[in-house]
Amino acid sequence: MHQNKNKNHIPVLLEEVITTLSPKLNESYLDLTAGYAGHAAAILAITKNPSGSVLVDRDVTAISYLQKKFLDTGVNIIDQDFLTASKNLKDLKYKFDLILADLGVSSLHIDEAQRGFSIKNNGPLDMRMDQRQLLTAQKVVNEYPREDLIRILKEYGEEPKAKLIVDKIINNRPLTSTEELAKLIEPVWSRSTIHPATRTFQALRIEVNKELSLLSESMNVWLDLLEIGGRIGIISFHSLEDRIIKNFFKEQSQSGYESSLKILTKKPLRASPTEIAHNPRSRSAKLRVAVKIKK
Ligand SMILES: C[S@@+](CC[C@H](N)C(=O)[O-])C[C@H]1O[C@@H](n2cnc3c(N)ncnc32)[C@H](O)[C@@H]1O
Repeated sequence: MHQNKNKNHIPVLLEEVITTLSPKLNESYLDLTAGYAGHAAAILAITKNPSGSVLVDRDVTAISYLQKKFLDTGVNIIDQDFLTASKNLKDLKYKFDLILADLGVSSLHIDEAQRGFSIKNNGPLDMRMDQRQLLTAQKVVNEYPREDLIRILKEYGEEPKAKLIVDKIINNRPLTSTEELAKLIEPVWSRSTIHPATRTFQALRIEVNKELSLLSESMNVWLDLLEIGGRIGIISFHSLEDRIIKNFFKEQSQSGYESSLKILTKKPLRASPTEIAHNPRSRSAKLRVAVKIKK
């Protein structure tokens, strides 16, 4: 089954990643969100340095795919969230020439209704990237206090009708399926170009997977893991993540002689119309790349 799974996930901005990260023969490589190895396979084909490569993912299905794909190649595979993995690698004094993070979910997450990420295909309210963790979307929806839910929908979903939606949720508890939740929200936005529940689903997903806090906490560690002259590329899919990356790159590149990074992408790189037509998921992708110039 796993052999076919990667066919559903097309790596975004692949050409742009290769051009800006500019991998070279023998360089070491850390992929923090290896998924179905779309980017990793392309980079490894250039560096030809499997034993100097580390692939991280917190999703067990992705990990078992990676373990099969890279069996007996010497590639190191870590099944942890990228903050824990990065801290451990730092403790072990690892350094890399290339670091890539392609944030968010894979198409496989969305396509598999059972994972509970999809608005369109009914499934349990789950949304965990790491199925070993205890917090699910169902817990957030049914157990969080009203004020916390409103804050999450406002902050992580940028949902203008957060209060209205949360009151509907609270009046209809317990909710168990993605369909129930999506249907409940539909009347709130009657003339919307996106599905009315899109912002709520995004907010819940960010909360369940602690996406923003893990990213904010990880970036300093990633900087420590980078060799001088090493490149780091980060692909994000929503403005909240992109803001964190942009600000971190700015801070680290505008401290005069103490700057540790030089930004290689003045503006984030976006998918071309051809790529978007081929892979609609790439529409919102933004790639920012920087090179380490100083400790
Ligand atoms: C967009 S996909 C990456 C796809 C990959 N670049 C490829 O070409 O196949 C994101 C992957 O990162 C994983 N992921 C997301 N957040 C993570 C985190 N904090 N720690 C570890 N893995 C994470 C997800 O499980 C998912 O498999």
